[in-house]
Amino acid sequence: MAQLSPEQRAAELRLELNFHNHRYYTLDDPVISDAEYDVLLRELRAIEAEHPGLLTADSPTQRVGGDPSPAFDEVEHSRPMLSLGNAFDFDELAAWHRRVSGLLDGADFQMVCELKIDGLAVNLTYENGVLSQGATRGNGVTGEDVTRNLRTIRSIPLAVENAPSHLEVRGEVYLPVAEFRRLNEERAERGEQLYANPRNTGAGSIRQLDPKITASRNMQIWVYSLNSSEGVEFIQSHWKALEWLTDLGFRINPKNRLCSSLEEVEDYYRYWLERRHDLPYEADGVVVKVSPLQMQDQLGVVGREPRWAVAYKFPAERATTRLLEIGINVGRTGSLNPYAILAPV
Ligand code: IVH
Repeated sequence: MAQLSPEQRAAELRLELNFHNHRYYTLDDPVISDAEYDVLLRELRAIEAEHPGLLTADSPTQRVGGDPSPAFDEVEHSRPMLSLGNAFDFDELAAWHRRVSGLLDGADFQMVCELKIDGLAVNLTYENGVLSQGATRGNGVTGEDVTRNLRTIRSIPLAVENAPSHLEVRGEVYLPVAEFRRLNEERAERGEQLYANPRNTGAGSIRQLDPKITASRNMQIWVYSLNSSEGVEFIQSHWKALEWLTDLGFRINPKNRLCSSLEEVEDYYRYWLERRHDLPYEADGVVVKVSPLQMQDQLGVVGREPRWAVAYKFPAERATTRLLEIGINVGRTGSLNPYAILAPV
């Protein structure tokens, strides 16, 4: 096969990534793993970095997530819902830390380590202490109004006392692993096709037109940030914001940890790398955030990623299994869709 030019390869990668974005964000039904997606995105980023002339405004590297579904009302986010840069090993994490230190003129800074929950990011708005709107991330700028569905999640407070008149928080909604298994057992009994994974089943449960479906699945939330600027001037660090939100009644992950050095971050990462499967939810890495808010402002955002945070990813897991049988589903239009039945691993 003839070697593709960087321009041709970039065009090919964009097509492929757009296809996978659609499968993941709009259909909640991905056909490749996150790790495989990351490899494609990284390759495109590398080409664009080397040939800036090839960078287009509509490149998948330039945006966050998928477009909102026309099935829901659109919500314009007060501030964009950002994405995170990745570190895939300790060297990449250390490089991020060095860059941050340099930008902060060598000042010391604390970091908050959090588990990176593999779910669906949401923004919750409270007016005068009452939950008035819940939205998905959508493309980062415009999300979907899923208030009715989010109201069915019991760990999302419908009202909070002592809140400022306008309060916004962000977090990750997820389907607990046990709940995912229960749903699949029920589906197996009814002879229905099984759901692929908790992340997409959870996202699909929120992006339903019928809130009864969301309500019938015991979904949960971990709130991971405060997204307001009024009435919270006394909060000076991300860590303090999480403590304050805990006091207000939000569900904040008790496994979050305040770290003062890169070594402590690495210890946290290794600890959870070993124990990630003991968690009742799926976590695909550790999010490391510079804690002082004034330093976050100073570091700022480049493109869609804040410089003050990084996702330190757990290695992708692969397992080998046996193909037991190939089945065929007949689609609505009569199309024949083969699927594999694999031995559980
Ligand atoms: S912080 C400012 N914290 O990861 C950075 N995100 O790739 C944006 N996520 O859209 C969010 N757990 O859906 C943050 N503890 C956590 C998280 C977390 C999961 C997701 C979130 C975000 C994506 C970024």
